Amino acid sequence: MGNIIVFINHKGGVGKSTSATNVAAILASKFGKKVLVIDCDGQKNSSSKIIDIKDIDSNKSLYSLWTKREFRVTDAIYTTNMKNLFLIPGDTRLHNLGDSDFDILEEDVLNPRLILKERIKRLKRAFDYIILDSQPSLSFVTYSTLYAADSYIIPTDMDPDSNIGIRAIKRVVATLNKTKSAKIKDAGILICNLAKANSSTMKDLRADLDAEFGDQILPVSIPSDVRVKGASKKKTPIYCLSPGNPVSKAYLKATSHIIEVTS
Ligand SMILES: Nc1ncnc2c1ncn2[C@@H]1O[C@H](COP(=O)(O)OP(=O)(O)OP(=O)(O)O)[C@@H](O)[C@H]1O
Ligand SMILES: [Mg+2]
Repeated sequence: MGNIIVFINHKGGVGKSTSATNVAAILASKFGKKVLVIDCDGQKNSSSKIIDIKDIDSNKSLYSLWTKREFRVTDAIYTTNMKNLFLIPGDTRLHNLGDSDFDILEEDVLNPRLILKERIKRLKRAFDYIILDSQPSLSFVTYSTLYAADSYIIPTDMDPDSNIGIRAIKRVVATLNKTKSAKIKDAGILICNLAKANSSTMKDLRADLDAEFGDQILPVSIPSDVRVKGASKKKTPIYCLSPGNPVSKAYLKATSHIIEVTS
């Protein structure tokens, strides 16, 4: 049965989409797993990192799959130019999706936030991993991704505000896990886009993160490298373009760790 992992942090620009797509690409290309990325963000950033978004048919995206009960899930699945890696693309309409977009009398669940979980449930049989990239907000969409997930990873940057975002997500997960509908496993905190860590400011910030979250932080951090942006421009995760790059090597280590803690 496929393993659903959500990359989540309501703080923006911390490396969620970059991490989701690189981890997905590594699971597919290095570990030979069949992987589906589901882009749950209206910005469509994880979509644009692995396909040309001009190829997305607006009637065949996560939005249609989510909002139309009769929609065939396979119609929203796109191939990518990477073997074993597939995508359900995002859609700008996901920005405003909310409870009122669903007629609950038509659904099999009482809580509209469980509809995404229901819609993608059968995909667990078809894929080894389903990677959800979430949007930078604590919205209906973000709660829905958590309900749908087996595990969550919090990508974060090193910023004085980072601890606030991490704490908020953990609080939400703890609350959801008190209900029968969620059993979300903590797969750790991934420090991303790390500038050279030898300044005293960076050391202080790292000490703050360690003091609060210590052993929850993954044993590898992702360094900063402008070539990550170059890879995005080529619609290919950096791991696939340049596996020897320090960012690629760090994502490979992170992925091995993620496989271990989510299995
Ligand atoms: N390791 C890295 N080195 C250099 N740039 C990076 C790295 N990781 C991410 N970036 C860049 O930082 C920006 C934000 O990354 P990304 O889109 O992955 O974050 P995000 O958390 O998904 O953002 P959002 O909250 O808007 O969805 C992007 O321009 C991306 O190219
Ligand atoms: Mg993103």
